[in-house]
Amino acid sequence: MAERAYIMPIALRLWHWTNALLMILLIISGASLHFTDPVIPLIRFDIARTIHNVSGIGVSVLYIFFAVWNSATGSWRQYIPELKGLKANLDRQNYYVFVGQLKGDAPHVVPTPEQKFNAMQQLTYIGVMYIAMPVVIVTGLAFFYPELAPAQLFGFDGLLPIAVLHYVAGFGLTMFLLGHLYMGTTGTTVAGGFRMMITGWHDEHDEKPENEQP
Ligand code: HEM
Repeated sequence: MAERAYIMPIALRLWHWTNALLMILLIISGASLHFTDPVIPLIRFDIARTIHNVSGIGVSVLYIFFAVWNSATGSWRQYIPELKGLKANLDRQNYYVFVGQLKGDAPHVVPTPEQKFNAMQQLTYIGVMYIAMPVVIVTGLAFFYPELAPAQLFGFDGLLPIAVLHYVAGFGLTMFLLGHLYMGTTGTTVAGGFRMMITGWHDEHDEKPENEQP
């Protein structure tokens, strides 16, 4: 019997896609500021700086929305993995992502409003949304208001360790985004996860692979 479930409320989807767009702008402008030749930049320095500042402020405001919304709706619980059997669940998910899905197996965790994520998603999203994003935002704000940064940190000029942290967390988030795009294709159809993130509905029937159809 086909199961349809409304998993992603509109507020979450609006947050997600605006955040995604701003993160992409941050990655491109940040790479231009950090890596490109000052004489022939990827994006002209002043333009890249403006894009980076405006998108960074946008992502910070959105993050407050994300944190308030998650705590007000209790959705933060979706991100906490069940410790009992955690290793086995991660092993099953790893097997599914790298072997099972290529053989046409169905995912073992089908998203429901009560449990949207498998253990791998939970751990990844905790790292991304509750560790890397706060680090990148706080260190970015320290650059935006350098007068608030400490004059010295660990014996260095105060902004140096902050710059390193900002870079490392930003790099981690860029790697996450690449992995996230791939993981988004690992439902039982390539497009199912993306469609869910657009419509809000998870449609189990749409997602049944050929060999699982009754
Ligand atoms: C083009 C960029 C992006 C695409 C195509 C995309 C796609 C998706 C898809 C398909 C899902 C569904 C669930 C899943 O597969 O895990 C999802 C959920 C999610 N994505 Fe993204 N994503 C993008 C960018 C981002 C970025 C940049 C972040 C954070 C920095 C992010 C954070 C999340 C979170 C936290 C969820 C779970 C939301 C919830 O249900 O609470 N995504 N995304």
